[in-house]
Amino acid sequence: METHIAEIADGIYRLSTYVAEIAPPAGFTFNQFLVLGEEPLLFHTGPRGMFPSVRAAMARVMDPANLRWITFGHVEADECGAMNEWLKVAPRAQVAHGRTGCFVSLNDLADRAPRMLDDGEVIDLGSSKRIRYLDTPHVPHGWEAGLYVEETSGTLLCGDLFTQLGNGPALVSSDIVGPAIAAEDMFKSSSLHPSMGATIRRLADLKPQRLALMHGPSFEGDASAALLALGDYYDRQHQAQAA
Ligand SMILES: [Fe+2]
Ligand SMILES: [Fe+2]
Repeated sequence: METHIAEIADGIYRLSTYVAEIAPPAGFTFNQFLVLGEEPLLFHTGPRGMFPSVRAAMARVMDPANLRWITFGHVEADECGAMNEWLKVAPRAQVAHGRTGCFVSLNDLADRAPRMLDDGEVIDLGSSKRIRYLDTPHVPHGWEAGLYVEETSGTLLCGDLFTQLGNGPALVSSDIVGPAIAAEDMFKSSSLHPSMGATIRRLADLKPQRLALMHGPSFEGDASAALLALGDYYDRQHQAQAA
């Protein structure tokens, strides 16, 4: 197992591990994002089994012991399985998540008490990096689901949204909506519900410059258009199911 690292925006690194055995022949990637600053932040811990590889990749950029914030979209193994491993190697690190995630799961699961974030709350990482937490309940799945945007670079850490198969380049400007629809048709991993499209369209209102996908390449280009198209797709899916 090898974790590759690429800088997708100034001081924002994509740590990517390809697993050929998942959804062959295309395979599947698991990506974490490291946002550097005086208080460095990791978005997604990776599953426990990937921890040694992800930690070694991080060590090429910074000392993992200096990690300050551990964040993720929702409570699943690939999002937060290695949370306590990171807490062990980084003595100043703290998990941060929305109120639902903390009350329902993380106050119990995390070895040190998490920081509870309100919708819209900002963590100032220093070095001109500002990370804002956004509640996105049940989008794409999980009651406690939330996402983050790094405001200086306009990078939306969009988690499982736009999940696609395969192992492409770290950063693309090509279409990411078509591959996301193909993967959703295969996995059916999203919780279809009436407000899904509206939640995704609110993310489009942020006018991000860049989308950091957990499973797939990062995207630079008209991110709002991609989010609007994805929201419309989920609305159509929900309406079709409801009918
Ligand atoms: Fe997930
Ligand atoms: Fe995921």
